[in-house]
Amino acid sequence: MNIAVGSDHAGYELKKTVCAWLERNGHQVNDMGPYSGDSVDYPDYARKVAEAVAAGEFDQGVLLCGTGIGVSITANKVPGIRAALACNPEFATLARQHNNANIICFSARFTDGPTIERSLENWFAADFEGGRHERRVAKIEPQEFSRSGNC
Ligand code: RB5
Repeated sequence: MNIAVGSDHAGYELKKTVCAWLERNGHQVNDMGPYSGDSVDYPDYARKVAEAVAAGEFDQGVLLCGTGIGVSITANKVPGIRAALACNPEFATLARQHNNANIICFSARFTDGPTIERSLENWFAADFEGGRHERRVAKIEPQEFSRSGNC
């Protein structure tokens, strides 16, 4: 698959681990930065990756920051993006099977390299199950969300 990857300074080191794992496993990787460990703002990189995935330039994306929360919140502001914070490999499987997530987010400060690698393995091994999950995922879209009177 064609994968966009981004982080902030907190995720910079583990982003290298992610890119290396993706390349070893036959994926095309576009590292969208940052390219040093200098302090940056996570929304700049999360938005870049999310917009590129939403535009169809990449199949999926991987984002990292200190907690994984900032990049998740940012990416989910982009229409068409379903970004899931994976705290462990089981989250990664379920994010694909139930949520049809198209970006996986990691905490670089609370998740170690081997756990991230196992999570990526699960992520790429799992497929969206559809069925009742299709209906639920459709309800996430902004136009459906407002129609159901939830906002
Ligand atoms: C940066 O210190 C930190 O706030 C960031 O990496 C992330 O955890 C934000 O959600």
